[in-house]
Amino acid sequence: MEIINIALPKGRLGEKVYARFKKAGYPCPSIEEENRKLIFENLTAGVRYFWVKPSDVAIYVERGAADIGVAGRDILLEYSPDVYELADLGLGKCLMCVAAKKDFRDNLDRTLRVATKFPHIASRHYSTLSREIDIIKLNGSIEIAPILGLSDVIVDIVETGKTLLENDLEPRETILPISARLIANKVSYKFKHDEIVRLCEKVR
Ligand code: PRP
Repeated sequence: MEIINIALPKGRLGEKVYARFKKAGYPCPSIEEENRKLIFENLTAGVRYFWVKPSDVAIYVERGAADIGVAGRDILLEYSPDVYELADLGLGKCLMCVAAKKDFRDNLDRTLRVATKFPHIASRHYSTLSREIDIIKLNGSIEIAPILGLSDVIVDIVETGKTLLENDLEPRETILPISARLIANKVSYKFKHDEIVRLCEKVR
């Protein structure tokens, strides 16, 4: 039996994804131990898991270091990796939103300053609105940008809405619904076809 190499997104989403894979018949006892290892395998179940940064999952899969992986729709739309999208796992559901300070009023005569981790998604959204924007690419804690006057709005992920609320921001527009997708490397999908299809049917 061929081993399937699986890139899991480290963090909250990854824990849920592993639980789904375990339930589907792909457990890996060593991954459940408290340690700092990043690679785990269960040869009997035919799987090798590795924890990677959520935004890197698609890179591992696109280049074939992982046969399959789980990435948010946000990452797939932002980076457009050359991979197959096999299934919507329905996990990690959230929204890509525009948010602003409660007292912010847009002035269409001025360029809108947009802080985000997702410059491509933000650019595409505003180009469909023919709105001129200035993108400020940040890597985290996006909510701070409008508070400090670095930007007018943010384009970011909203899950519970707690981060916005606690930083006196409010959602203004929904751009897209997001959820976790099972993705596959194109060559692996051909050469490990039966194993990957079986896994996909069980986890979905
Ligand atoms: C994400 C997102 C928001 C927050 C939304 O941040 O960028 O900040 O979660 O969740 P909520 O609506 O449930 O409050 P993440 O935890 O990934 O951290 P970072 O972007 O600041 O690195």
